[in-house]
Amino acid sequence: MASIQLLEKLNEAIARELQVSVQYMWQHVMAKGAYGYTVRDIFKKIAIQEMKHAEDIAERLGYLGGAPTTRPTPIEVGKSAREMVQLNKQAEEEAIVLYREIISIAEHEKDTVTAALFTDILAAEEEHHNTFSSLLAE
Ligand SMILES: [Fe+2]
Ligand SMILES: [Fe+2]
Repeated sequence: MASIQLLEKLNEAIARELQVSVQYMWQHVMAKGAYGYTVRDIFKKIAIQEMKHAEDIAERLGYLGGAPTTRPTPIEVGKSAREMVQLNKQAEEEAIVLYREIISIAEHEKDTVTAALFTDILAAEEEHHNTFSSLLAE
């Protein structure tokens, strides 16, 4: 049986995935200027991946007996395209910290399927972090 702590962490993860899927998609709509033009399609592509993460984690949580939250953590779209990328890099860093923690809790509870799921998602978040970091490089 999954612990309450693990179920709560999965819901924290879902709230974050909902946040960034909306955040990145609205940035795709709102990004302006020459720099915005170069990043808007990247925002859309990653937004769709984040929604898929929300789905995968919600399915896992449902299987473990929890109910997925519908409430995202606070969405920060940002003003300039560069500020958007900075916000997203920060969001990915926070996701990486949380997902490493979830993997360690899941391993401790011998829940290898949840650990494997978050290992895959963590790899995607590191890739997103790398994308946003590279976009900020001079
Ligand atoms: Fe994600
Ligand atoms: Fe991400």
